[in-house]
Amino acid sequence: MALQKHLLPFFIVIIISYFASSYSSLQEDPLDNPGYDDGGSFKSVIKQNNAVLSLNRLVASISAKTVNVDSFGAKGDGSTDDTQAFKKAWEAACASQGAVLVVPAKKNYLLKPIKFSGPCKPGLTVQILGTLEASSDRSDYSKDSTEWLIFENIQTLSVEGGGTINGNGKIWWENSCKINKKLPCKDAPTALTFYKSQNLSVRNLKIQNAQQIHVSFQDCTGVQVSGLTVTAPGESPNTDGIHVTNTQNMHISGCVIGTGDDCISIVSGSKNVQASDITCGPGHGISIGSLGDGKSTAYVSGIIVNGAKLSGTKNGVRIKTWQGGSGSASNIKFMNIEMNNVTNPIIIDQNYCDQDKPCNQQLSAVQIKDVLYLNIKGTSASNVAVKFDCSQSFPCQGIVLQNVNLQKEGKGAAKAECNNVKLTDLGVVSPRCP
Ligand SMILES: *[C@@H]1O[C@H](CO)[C@@H](O)[C@H](O)[C@H]1NC(C)=O
Ligand SMILES: *[C@@H]1O[C@H](CO)[C@@H](O)[C@H](O)[C@H]1NC(C)=O
Repeated sequence: MALQKHLLPFFIVIIISYFASSYSSLQEDPLDNPGYDDGGSFKSVIKQNNAVLSLNRLVASISAKTVNVDSFGAKGDGSTDDTQAFKKAWEAACASQGAVLVVPAKKNYLLKPIKFSGPCKPGLTVQILGTLEASSDRSDYSKDSTEWLIFENIQTLSVEGGGTINGNGKIWWENSCKINKKLPCKDAPTALTFYKSQNLSVRNLKIQNAQQIHVSFQDCTGVQVSGLTVTAPGESPNTDGIHVTNTQNMHISGCVIGTGDDCISIVSGSKNVQASDITCGPGHGISIGSLGDGKSTAYVSGIIVNGAKLSGTKNGVRIKTWQGGSGSASNIKFMNIEMNNVTNPIIIDQNYCDQDKPCNQQLSAVQIKDVLYLNIKGTSASNVAVKFDCSQSFPCQGIVLQNVNLQKEGKGAAKAECNNVKLTDLGVVSPRCP
């Protein structure tokens, strides 16, 4: 202790100079996006955020209180229920500034649903080295069958470590109405949820076989996601990779996602969400929406997908809205994207209908405007490589295709089907709307 007191001024100097240097190196624009103009505010928020998180990490590494789940009685043998031990460990970590909650390597912790709730002391890190495995007893989820692991009401949190989060979803898939048509349609849990939290960093984790959605961000601000590997069988129902709801200033990068549903889905209330260096397949591709279901109002804007490779997916880049909704999806850029045998590489579907009874023609719609498709190339599994099925009453506006070249995989020619769309072609565009 005496030694630490002695060293304190020294540490303060290190912290200040580290902060200064990491901040200035971040000024060198890691998020350089020609053509994306939001006045720089999104970039600067992410940068500050980065600096704050690096600073937190440094503070954590100096003053770190390490909280090991094993010290609270967790066994990690794959059969003991470790839920209570994790709850106690969380309380200890949450109450201590800059704490690191450690889940040791080479162990398998069996968990029932858990809420990791804040507010916590700032600078918390959850270091997952081993495996978290979901209970496959569905009665364990009877209180709330929509979440397994949830982090909520937390500021400045990092979740990382290279370990695995396994939703053990088989039992849920077998009981899905999409697999067994005789069963009623019910939600299954999201494996990992971040709710009402700010300044999050989620990186370097393997997330697999979720009960339903793999990772969900809802009502969050300032989120960095990177290095996630998300996997589930192509036929597992509704197993979206990363689902984003009502979340602002988010950057998803360097993720590999292959599941039974959307690779990334971005829905109502989301703004300034960027995804770069994303690999998708199998699954349903990258999707904005669905929006406007049940006559709801939805706003989504400032979405950039820059750098993605999709292979064997049902869709490439899709915007989907239900008839009868209102609001808008605007200022969207899909750029530098490679499609490899994708069934619907470019698609806007304003007549989306995912229910048993048919959806009737309606007069209102979520307005889609200012969507850029830039540098998109590759192959289409179907002969309709470009499909704009826009609303009769609210045609799509400001749609720009620039350097788009999609060929039919195998024999035949690719074509475009275009209804109610105001569009501009720049550079080479193939296929073109008739
Ligand atoms: C999140 O980060 C931003 C940008 O660095 C900062 O202004 C804000 O105060 C932080 N919010 C919280 C709740 O820590
Ligand atoms: C392309 O995708 C279709 C349908 O998804 C599949 O039947 C076909 O085998 C795939 N072709 C190649 C070359 O992968």
